[in-house]
Amino acid sequence: MPMMKKFNPNLVKLLNILNDGQYHDGDSVGRRLGMTRSAVWKTIKKLEAYEVAIDSVKGKGYALFDPLILLETQKIKKRLNEKVDLHLFESIASTNDYLKSIKPVKGISFCLAEQQTSGKGRLNREWYSPFGRNIYLSCLYSFQKDISELSGLSLVISLTILKTLKNYGITGLFVKWPNDIVHGNKKIAGSLIEIQAETHGFCQAIIGVGLNVNMLGGDLPITQAWTSMRKILGSPVDRNELCARLINTLLADLREFEEVGFSGFVDRWSEADALANQTITLKNVREEIRGKVAGINEHGHLLLRLANGSIRAFSSGDTSIVKKGEHSSPGHS
Ligand code: BTN
Repeated sequence: MPMMKKFNPNLVKLLNILNDGQYHDGDSVGRRLGMTRSAVWKTIKKLEAYEVAIDSVKGKGYALFDPLILLETQKIKKRLNEKVDLHLFESIASTNDYLKSIKPVKGISFCLAEQQTSGKGRLNREWYSPFGRNIYLSCLYSFQKDISELSGLSLVISLTILKTLKNYGITGLFVKWPNDIVHGNKKIAGSLIEIQAETHGFCQAIIGVGLNVNMLGGDLPITQAWTSMRKILGSPVDRNELCARLINTLLADLREFEEVGFSGFVDRWSEADALANQTITLKNVREEIRGKVAGINEHGHLLLRLANGSIRAFSSGDTSIVKKGEHSSPGHS
């Protein structure tokens, strides 16, 4: 079982007091919350260990530099269009790994965490997952489909995230095949899909979504250019509401995918395709190949027009746009 920490309700209660931005001393906070001064101090230390910036001044008490509203199961559930099984953690290794470890229940399970200590990205990359800033969400969904029919699912999830973000009034968003959501060439979200079991035409997908919400600058261990909703919108976003909107959109899109397959999403993809008509380099485990993007096919595979004029479909790989004036190295198509 992966390392996990259940939610300590004192964290939410303490932050509710400190979120007014004023200084509060340990005694008065303790009285309001029915906690000892030392329990308040321990909770403060816990927040600091999660790298929440707290100012502490002798004689005045504690104050938050930046308000922080934590996720709460009830706040999310009350906004959902249907009942789901929801597991929320203060900290966990990876929400995807957690859903792999549980005994599946009837219906759809979700896992959310305020922090991931081993968040995973595609292609064995790490997904930086600081406490309380972003959304780290996984969904365990059972399909009455053969694994071969799930191609395109990753693109559907990219479109789900894009739709959710657009509903916040964010413009200039694109999907970059297969799973990046970008704004001004900076990544704002990505998804990681793992297929768990497969028997007689049934399979279970674990769909993980990482979305940068209130994360701001600083010296962060992220190698790709990135952005967040807060950076774009200029103010913090209510993550409880955002989680509910994301889950509602995800469930609607998954149902549509179950019914009609990826063909129902091709137009939505084409409208938001960051790579359309671009010359790109595609790298996968077997090769590195250059070509001009000619859209996607009905399975969600990327179509590349190669130098000899032929079109080839790719089901996986990492893509990068070739800047004007860059020449292909010998041996590349
Ligand atoms: C990528 O763009 O490379 C995929 C990022 C996926 C990150 C999410 S965060 C929730 C879930 N748990 C994980 O460990 N990874 C996914």
